[in-house]
Amino acid sequence: MTESIKAVLECKALAKSFEEGPEKLEVLKDVNLFVGPSERVAVVGSSGSGKTTLLQLLAGLDHPSSGEIRVCGHELAAMKDAHQNELRNRHLGFVYQFHHLLPEFTALENVSMPLLLRKNTSIKQIKDKAEELLDAVGLIARARHKPAELSGGERQRVAIARALVTEPDLVFMDEPTGNLDPNTAEKVHGLMQSLSQEFTTSFIVVTHDMRLARQMDRVFRLESGTLILDP
Ligand SMILES: Nc1ncnc2c1ncn2[C@@H]1O[C@H](COP(=O)(O)OP(=O)(O)O)[C@@H](O)[C@H]1O
Ligand SMILES: [Mg+2]
Repeated sequence: MTESIKAVLECKALAKSFEEGPEKLEVLKDVNLFVGPSERVAVVGSSGSGKTTLLQLLAGLDHPSSGEIRVCGHELAAMKDAHQNELRNRHLGFVYQFHHLLPEFTALENVSMPLLLRKNTSIKQIKDKAEELLDAVGLIARARHKPAELSGGERQRVAIARALVTEPDLVFMDEPTGNLDPNTAEKVHGLMQSLSQEFTTSFIVVTHDMRLARQMDRVFRLESGTLILDP
């Protein structure tokens, strides 16, 4: 990937410290990353190495101590909070280890939610789009089911459909398959591979599973506060 291809995400010399009284914890020291369209990047690293902190910064959910982050050409630090929220809503999606689906709503309603919050789309358009995504993750037959009636893998697939329903340029996943058995985890990763091409979506995925990480375009290891390309 060369710099001439438009970056979906770019960060330079990113650093983050947490101050706890007299103690200063330097979690990220010098993180540099360039992610292009449809690229799938894995981030591995031991527990406490700063993977979640990194995703939070890249998504604009926390502020870096220093360094620069650009999302789809926009520099986060230069934006007001409201504008950052809009950028997040328009360009980014999220999937976490625990699906965070709303228990009282059906799969279809959960997937519809990000579009309902946008207020500028008709109910018919929202339903069509949500059904398209549920179909893409192989769960159209489960549209009327609530999260409790779905398996762990199915719930994560619904969470992926929900993350993609707004057609984001980039989806962050924080150990999305950490809770699944290896077989199901493999299926969820396979799905991500095909969706990244179908919807031109880039993925930054934190995972513990080196085998799954290896199936992505590039693998980085977060170590001593910096990202190292894993050969
Ligand atoms: N808000 C915070 N305040 C203080 N320390 C934090 C905060 N968030 C994370 N940390 C610390 O930063 C380090 C990295 O945490 P985290 O990013 O969650 O690691 P990982 O996701 O790789 O397990 C840990 O030592 C954690 O305790
Ligand atoms: Mg974490």
